[in-house]
Amino acid sequence: MEYRHLGKTGLKISELSFGSWVTFHNQNGVDAAVEMMAAAYDAGVNFFDNAQVYAAGKSEEVMGAALGKLGWRRGSYLVSTKLYWGLNDGPNEKNTLNRKFLVEGIDGCLERLGLEHVDLLYCHRPDPATPIEETAWAMHNIIEQGKALYWGTSEWTAADIVSAIEIAERHHLHKPVVEQPVYNLLEQHRFAPEYEKVYREYGYGTTTWSPLASGLLSGKYSDGIPAGSRGSLEAYDWLQPQLTDPESLAKVAALKPLADSIGASLAQFSLAWCLQNSLVSSVITGASRLQQVQENMQAVTFKDKFTSELLASIDQAVGITPTHD
Ligand SMILES: NC(=O)c1ccc[n+]([C@@H]2O[C@H](COP(=O)([O-])OP(=O)(O)OC[C@H]3O[C@@H](n4cnc5c(N)ncnc54)[C@H](OP(=O)(O)O)[C@@H]3O)[C@@H](O)[C@H]2O)c1
Repeated sequence: MEYRHLGKTGLKISELSFGSWVTFHNQNGVDAAVEMMAAAYDAGVNFFDNAQVYAAGKSEEVMGAALGKLGWRRGSYLVSTKLYWGLNDGPNEKNTLNRKFLVEGIDGCLERLGLEHVDLLYCHRPDPATPIEETAWAMHNIIEQGKALYWGTSEWTAADIVSAIEIAERHHLHKPVVEQPVYNLLEQHRFAPEYEKVYREYGYGTTTWSPLASGLLSGKYSDGIPAGSRGSLEAYDWLQPQLTDPESLAKVAALKPLADSIGASLAQFSLAWCLQNSLVSSVITGASRLQQVQENMQAVTFKDKFTSELLASIDQAVGITPTHD
């Protein structure tokens, strides 16, 4: 496992990390969480991703209980959470990045996680109704209170990221240092040129999500929705159209021989492809069972196999015209 700097911060983050969206509480209780987090940690993962909204706070509770059982040295791992959607319906309790919501919200997250601070705190989505200056000040204050060490954005536009950085610079605030964008073989828009420019010019880190497009890129949906998979979960039936989209399935089929050519499973191949992008600080993996963690952690062994010929064949398979050299 390689440890990459989170953008140009001094923080080192494992190139593969582990997140709990969908899985914790909905599919996995504390014992399974302990087992999978331990397998990831033993493989070198030092970053565990969470969010206030995951399973309405229960995902943080499961991770907190698992961390309690695992008893790792606090210095040996990083935990994140994210704020935006909220857990309640009040006018200042959902879909906001206002000062009140952020400053109060972090306390509940820390309580559920059983931690004194999170390492990374993300604004889970942009909030066009709150001035970025208000959000930047609130995140700065949370860091000054010692409740988070770094802050970042998730799915923000390139222009808003730059705006947040510039506001922070102007007021000598802690700057946002990392974006959490979707990134996989089928969804590459958050690494379009305007984003790459920001990541490069500002040394902005990226912790990328859904590297397997919710499991689609493992090849498991090629013959329909398998029982027990994410696509079979009633609460996530909104994912079904994308997991069964014929065009995407055709792309996955075209990728299979390319994965075979380097001796990787489709899942390992798809994860390793994310890793070969040097603008990626960490690829956040997800898993509903131990065997997936074990398979996915092996992806690091394939990341150097992506020759320019292979990359060109991949672009052709997924129908993407490369925008960079
Ligand atoms: N910032 C954001 O807005 C945002 C959004 C989404 C996710 N995230 C973060 O990113 C993390 C990863 O996202 P994700 O869970 O969507 O990742 P993903 O890698 O796209 O999907 C993970 C799911 O795919 C299936 N899977 C994983 N490995 C497999 C394998 N080797 N073979 C077959 N199936 C496999 C499992 O689902 P089943 O076994 O149930 O089918 C697993 O839960 C999340 O946990 C979260 O921390 C952030």
